[in-house]
Amino acid sequence: MKAEILSLLRNSGEYISGQEICERFGVSRTAVWKAVKQLKEEGYQIDAVQNKGYRMTDSSDVLNEEELKSRMKTKWAGQNVKYFDRTGSTNIDAKKFAAAGVPHGTLVVADNQENGRGRRGRSWQSPAGSNVYFTIVLRPVFEPDKASMLTLVMALSVTEAIENDCGIRAEIKWPNDIVINKKKICGILTEMEISLESNDIQFVVIGVGINTNQTEFPEEMKEMAGSLLSEGGKKISRAGIIAKVMECFEKNYEVFAEKKDLSLMMEAYNAALVNKDRQVRVLDPKGEYTGTAKGINEKGELLVQKKDGKIEEVYAGEVSVRGLYSYV
Ligand code: BTN
Repeated sequence: MKAEILSLLRNSGEYISGQEICERFGVSRTAVWKAVKQLKEEGYQIDAVQNKGYRMTDSSDVLNEEELKSRMKTKWAGQNVKYFDRTGSTNIDAKKFAAAGVPHGTLVVADNQENGRGRRGRSWQSPAGSNVYFTIVLRPVFEPDKASMLTLVMALSVTEAIENDCGIRAEIKWPNDIVINKKKICGILTEMEISLESNDIQFVVIGVGINTNQTEFPEEMKEMAGSLLSEGGKKISRAGIIAKVMECFEKNYEVFAEKKDLSLMMEAYNAALVNKDRQVRVLDPKGEYTGTAKGINEKGELLVQKKDGKIEEVYAGEVSVRGLYSYV
C-alpha cells in the first residue's frame, strides 16, 4: 500500500486529496495518513496541506524496498526485491537466495557492501549513501557456455539505462566496463552455478556496481574512476537508475533468449564500444600482441585485427584488453 501511494504521489507531482487516495486504494484516511507519515520518516519530502491533500516535493535519494518496487516497470526483472542497508556482497547474497529457490529475476540491492567483489579477485569499493550495488538472479535454460554473453547483455542495458535516465552517453570497454569520458563508472561481475549431475545451469547471478553520486575517489583511483554525477553533473536517483536498468535488461534478455546469441544486439553493442577501431593490447597468456579492435561477433568475442591483417577472436574469459595509452 505504501509503495502504491508513493508511486501515485511521485507520478502526479500535484496535490492529491486524502479522499482520492482512500477511494483509489479502498483504505481509510487513517491508513493513508500513517503511510504518508512513514514515507516522511524514510526521508521523502511530502507536503500535506488542508483542503488540498498531499504532494511530493522531492523524493530525495531514498533507496529501500518500497522505493524500488514503486519504480519497477517490468514483468519479471526486479519484481522480487531483497534490500539491505548493509551487506557483505550482493553477489554472495544472490547466490544464497538462488540456491534457496528464489524466482528468475529476483533482485538483491544494498546501500553499502562491506566486502564488495570485483572481477579477477579484486575488491569493489562500496561506500554507503551514494552508489548503486545490485545483483540479479537468473535461471536461464541454455548451455553453460552461453552464460558469459549475459554480461555483455547487462553492459548494453546499463549504457541504455544511463542514456535514457540521465541523458549522458555511456560507452562500453569490452567486455563489460562502462565508461564516461574514459572514466570507469560501472563494473559487472557474473557468476554461475552448474549442476554437477546434469551439467545444466542452476542459476546465474549478475552483479552491477554503478558509481552514481560519489564525488570523492581515493587518490589511486582518481585518474580512472568517475560517477554519473562527476561526469554528468547531475544528481541521480539510485532507485530510478536501478529500475531503468531492470527495464532495459528485461527487454534485451528476451531478445538474447530468442537466438541464444548476441546477433540481434551486436549492432547496438558495437555502437557503444569505446574500443572500436582503436589500438588495443591483448594480454593473452600465450603471448601479448597489439591490434585494432573491430567490434564483437555474435558470441561476444572481440575481433582484433593484427598488423598482418589476420583477425583474432578474443574470448573474455582468458585474456584482458587494454588501450595502448590509457585504460580505454
Ligand atoms: C569489476 O571488477 O569491474 C566488477 C565489479 C562488480 C561490482 C558489483 S557491486 C554489486 C555486486 N556485488 C559484488 O560484490 N560485486 C558486484
